[in-house]
Amino acid sequence: QSELKDKMIEAHELAAKLYHYILMNTAHGQEALSYLRDRGINDKLIEQFQIGYAPTQWDTLVQLLEKRGFSLEAMEQAGLLSAKHQQSGYVDRFRDRIMFPIWDRNGKVIGFGGRILGEGQPKYLNSPETLLFNKSKLIYNQHLARPHMKRTGQLVLFEGYADVIQSWDAEVFNGIATMGTALTSEHVKLMKRMVERVIICYDGDNAGRAAASKAIPLLEQEGLDVSVAMLPNNMDPDDYIRANGAERFRHAILSAAVSPVKFQLLSLRGDHILLEDDGKRRYLKEALKLIAPIESPTEREMHLAELSKQIGVTIESLKQECFDLRQKLL
Ligand code: CTP
Ligand code: MN
Ligand code: MN
Ligand code: MN
Ligand code: MN
Repeated sequence: QSELKDKMIEAHELAAKLYHYILMNTAHGQEALSYLRDRGINDKLIEQFQIGYAPTQWDTLVQLLEKRGFSLEAMEQAGLLSAKHQQSGYVDRFRDRIMFPIWDRNGKVIGFGGRILGEGQPKYLNSPETLLFNKSKLIYNQHLARPHMKRTGQLVLFEGYADVIQSWDAEVFNGIATMGTALTSEHVKLMKRMVERVIICYDGDNAGRAAASKAIPLLEQEGLDVSVAMLPNNMDPDDYIRANGAERFRHAILSAAVSPVKFQLLSLRGDHILLEDDGKRRYLKEALKLIAPIESPTEREMHLAELSKQIGVTIESLKQECFDLRQKLL
């Protein structure tokens, strides 16, 4: 089995080289290359992340693997090829996609994320679960980010490949992502071995906020110190950096990351209309549930002061309600 694994890794390394070569040096890669450049992914980033292009033909990789003596059956198990329907034989699994190699912690290619050029479904086609590739245990960019995570004691958790890559260009070198899966406790245990602090920097849309709400308790359970960076108007980190630049991303977004409670309160605020008494009441009730369990009296007071301004009631009455709720909870 370990021999099979070695073969699978060898084939992934070879495939990554092929896809990268096709992108950079052939006519087949032209369109993909301009797509990447239009997205602000420059040649330095393409090199750093060994980005490639899988061409439209059905058997580009099949032919190379065959020539090099790989068992095609094993290569299907490795997730590089697909068995043909109705007949025997294999075709390339990835076709007409921008290829992002995924490395294990030692920097060996063990899978790919393949993005369609432009619109279409699925937007990303990832490697299937294989002997090598287990999404719930893998962190994208772990091998490049590791020294920076250890040096800073901190990591930035993104949603996607493009966010990690674009933020690398913005000199945020401790960025990682999970790949199309929710954060798992296995991911968190891996993180815990490298850092003490995590900045969640998910997309600034409802899906991103919901995912952040789920990630917070998982990270805190492992004793990690969590903060949340919030992005405006449905932007993701990649969009934000391209629109506003690296400097503003680092200062206005990452340095401005807030505590989990503050994040929950801000999200809650976005969900309620405070023009009506009914909306105010519901908002108040939910907000107090978040504030009451906070240990620090000064931190509680700061949140209550903010709340008092927002809904136009005195801080004294809020303190009283918060106190009553706290008694019930403890
Ligand atoms: N993802 C996936 N399969 C999909 C969609 C998303 O595996 N069909 C994963 C990818 O790892 C992707 C991440 O989820 O990077 C975040 O998804 P999304 O925010 O939709 O994509 P972006 O990273 O913003 O992609 P892009 O900027 O290329 O549109
Ligand atoms: Mn190169
Ligand atoms: Mn998203
Ligand atoms: Mn996104
Ligand atoms: Mn994006």
